[in-house]
Amino acid sequence: MKINNVYNEKEQYFTKDLLTEKKRYWDPKRSKVCAALKKNISVFPIEKTSCILYLGCAEGYTVSYLSDIVTEGKIIGVDFSAHSMQRFYLLSQKRKNIIPLLEDATRPEKYKDLLNFKVDVIVQDVSQKKQIEILKKNTDLFLKENGYVMLSLKTTAISQKKPKEIVDEELNNFKKHFKIINFVKLDPFEKKHIFVIGQKK
Ligand SMILES: C[S@@+](CC[C@H](N)C(=O)[O-])C[C@H]1O[C@@H](n2cnc3c(N)ncnc32)[C@H](O)[C@@H]1O
Repeated sequence: MKINNVYNEKEQYFTKDLLTEKKRYWDPKRSKVCAALKKNISVFPIEKTSCILYLGCAEGYTVSYLSDIVTEGKIIGVDFSAHSMQRFYLLSQKRKNIIPLLEDATRPEKYKDLLNFKVDVIVQDVSQKKQIEILKKNTDLFLKENGYVMLSLKTTAISQKKPKEIVDEELNNFKKHFKIINFVKLDPFEKKHIFVIGQKK
């Protein structure tokens, strides 16, 4: 799906607030999904009926904007920080399409019985080592056939190698499990991050 599913006004991105119907400015410096849109990622596979598993939801900044878009879908937000999850829980009380899960994304087998359905999209923003391994494990359990993954890759969390080497290595690793649809560097909004859209092989 093309990115014009998000309300695009000049160079800024807005969503229409699910609760008030008013426009909400989406800040690319606070949201890697928004930064990827600003950097003209060619595909945005989220539509109003999408069901999304979001790994690393934190307090829910990005999830709140996705919640405006998936008005007939839902978002399951996973984070292992109890502190962040307190605020995320409050957000989920206001927005009925958000489900909070206080869990470790490296151990999806622990929440497999809670999520007894498959999702259309997995978004991951965990800034951890073994980012692709985490994504693969979750994909195997929860992503529909032909579903999409949207991965924010921090290119310094992994090792002390040069950024270019890390990006190549990570993209090659990604390609072992997923077909790359498109990727963009997120600078200047987020330094040392790339954002990759892929599909299950
Ligand atoms: C950069 S923040 C995410 C920001 C959020 N995606 C947004 O745009 O609003 C990264 C989050 O990943 C979470 N995280 C890191 N490792 C995790 C893991 N193994 N399981 C679950 N959450 C994790 C952290 O607690 C943190 O809240």
